[in-house]
Amino acid sequence: MNPVKPAPLTADVVATHAGPDTLTVTDNRTGKKYELPITNGTIRALDLRQIKVNGKDFGMMSYDPAFINTALCYSKITFIDGDAGILRYRGYPIEELAEKSTYLETAYLILHGELPTAKQLEAWTYHITHHTFIHESIKKFLDGFHYDAHPMGMMISTIAALSTFYPDAKDIFNEESRRKQIYRMIGKMPTLAAFAYRHSLGMPFEYPDNDLSYAGNFLNMLFKTTELKYHPNPTLERALDVLFILHADHEQNCSANAMRGVGSSHVDPYSATAAATAALYGPLHGGANEEVLRMLMEIGSVSRVPDYIKRVKVGEHKLMGFGHRIYKNYDPRARIIKRIADEVFEVMGRNPLTEIALECERIALEDDYFISHKLYPNVDFYSGLIYQSMGFPMTMFPVLFAIPRTSGWIAQWEEMLLDREQKIARPRQIYLGQEQRSYIPIESRA
Ligand code: ACO
Repeated sequence: MNPVKPAPLTADVVATHAGPDTLTVTDNRTGKKYELPITNGTIRALDLRQIKVNGKDFGMMSYDPAFINTALCYSKITFIDGDAGILRYRGYPIEELAEKSTYLETAYLILHGELPTAKQLEAWTYHITHHTFIHESIKKFLDGFHYDAHPMGMMISTIAALSTFYPDAKDIFNEESRRKQIYRMIGKMPTLAAFAYRHSLGMPFEYPDNDLSYAGNFLNMLFKTTELKYHPNPTLERALDVLFILHADHEQNCSANAMRGVGSSHVDPYSATAAATAALYGPLHGGANEEVLRMLMEIGSVSRVPDYIKRVKVGEHKLMGFGHRIYKNYDPRARIIKRIADEVFEVMGRNPLTEIALECERIALEDDYFISHKLYPNVDFYSGLIYQSMGFPMTMFPVLFAIPRTSGWIAQWEEMLLDREQKIARPRQIYLGQEQRSYIPIESRA
């Protein structure tokens, strides 16, 4: 529990007892001093509450719009050092996982904390593979959407609808039930995504093929036409799997925060995942890769890049795919994606927008505005180019992000549920509105 002190320490006590792992605060309004414990380089916001002008005072709060300097939780899942450009899942560097692991193995790691043994991986893969089918009624929901409905809208709705098919998911403190929902969510996300895509094309849905890998089956459900058996191109299958690894988790980002916040009401995980997916849809988050492609198409040619950058610098628009709340260095995922892009282009041909992207990066990395603002390419800058080359329409880009991020969301959700310090998320506000006033009859209003 939070170690809230019942009464402020006197200045004398503070002076003689202040330990090295404390923060001494002087309230200049009262002259009182307070000693706040520092744990893991952090003070507890609730410890500020003891700082009061008088007995009626509610106590001090911290004001932090957009949680820029507020830690919401202790977490053991993902580590990011934004200045150094480091990303690790459960201690393993993203570069090593991208080179040696698979998405399903990484998802296991993220959710369980350790890499699986061969037997554990086999069982995990079996369970996920055997939960890929969706109820036939879900197809009817999909049929209700317009042909040009954005697939993220379809995803959000159908993920939420899953909660109505699995009422057992409400039993969130039952570990066995949670396991089941985890298999279902990771298993069904590619199916929902592929069905949404096929709906937009007016093509019949293609059912999962259990012989194929997670990424291979997804490609099968998306692209299979008349062939009896779909054989994914191994380069594209691996590229997609690596992209899934890179997108699996990213600690307390906007959608993970939505997952934790909504999940903190103890709603079922499908409803919370629908909320997280909605958060990911926004152009400042997972919708950015779609925006990057639109921007590159708008720029149109390498010669027009300098002018576009000039307009970015005067604030006309942002350079999409650049900048990050946490990374103040090159996003390590962007580096890996750049490499995969070359592999994909070898199979599919070079995306003509690549030259424009490279020129944007080249100019931006040498420009004072971007250097001083610490704006570097993020994960979304190059991923859209790969997706487009692989044949995905732009509207599918955020969907390709949501599929792998599901494992991260669920891990964040489960960690939140099992953390005994967590409660329903309910921030405070600083009310700056009107004091109490009497209702004015309409005929008396000015
Ligand atoms: N292009 C131009 N200027 C930028 C950009 C950009 N892409 N990003 C930030 N800036 C500028 C801001 O205008 C601001 O300038 P100022 O201090 O002179 O006013 C400064 O850099 C700080 O920007 P903030 O918006 O305050 O930074 P914040 O941490 O809130 O935002 C964000 C991070 C949302 C990612 C932002 O950089 C952005 O909008 N980037 C473009 C969208 C994008 O690529 N999003 C994907 C992020 S990765 C992901 O979610 C998976």
